[in-house]
Amino acid sequence: MSGTESQGGATEGNMWAERTVVDPGAAGRTAIDSDRLGDKAPADSRIRLAHIMSGADTNLYGSVHGGAVLKLIDDAAAASAARHCGGPAVTASVERLNFLAPAQVGDLLTVTAIVAAVGRTSLEVLTTVVAERWNTPGEERQIARAFLTFVAVDATGTPRAVPRLVLKTETDNALNKEAVSHRQGRVRTPRG
Ligand SMILES: CC(C)(COP(=O)(O)OP(=O)(O)OC[C@H]1O[C@@H](n2cnc3c(N)ncnc32)[C@H](O)[C@@H]1OP(=O)(O)O)[C@@H](O)C(=O)NCCC(=O)NCCS
Repeated sequence: MSGTESQGGATEGNMWAERTVVDPGAAGRTAIDSDRLGDKAPADSRIRLAHIMSGADTNLYGSVHGGAVLKLIDDAAAASAARHCGGPAVTASVERLNFLAPAQVGDLLTVTAIVAAVGRTSLEVLTTVVAERWNTPGEERQIARAFLTFVAVDATGTPRAVPRLVLKTETDNALNKEAVSHRQGRVRTPRG
């Protein structure tokens, strides 16, 4: 595809796809918020966060507690979201969190986080976690994966518009497709 934004009318249902720029090379494309906010690519928000698991991170079985992994995931995803939107963004939801393999004390965990899709004020961040022994070179194994939704907020906590996402690579497009589909399938929890 060249010189176009993603297709479709600006209905509520396809807002996420609509605000995602498919091709950065589009000459003369209509910039809605992009002049003001500055479009960003997924690579601009890519974060890697590494931490060695210690005895303080274990559960009653002696392996690494899921909550310890989730904290790392949330920290990395928050940094990624903040980089994309250039300011504070709060965690709205954690979804599709899958623990794929256990981690042990002495494992070096590395979380990679990247903004995969954006809405008007929200961002979908994909995180993956790999583990390897801290002191020996060896094979990395993937131990977790999750999507998190962040909402960019102003000083009063009110949601604010985020920059659009420029997809530059095949991987960007594939992750965006997965994130948009994830977003469209989500059921929002009612308040109260
Ligand atoms: C997240 C929060 C700012 C949303 O406020 P809100 O008034 O419900 O926002 P709105 O209804 O105007 O929705 C704003 C955006 O957030 C999205 N959103 C809101 N709640 C969501 C949820 N639970 N899951 C996913 N997305 C959500 C909406 O879809 C909308 O996206 P869009 O603008 O891209 O279309 C608010 O619920 C909040 O402050 N929650 C607490 C956050 C927190 O403390 N996190 C933990 C520490 S960081």
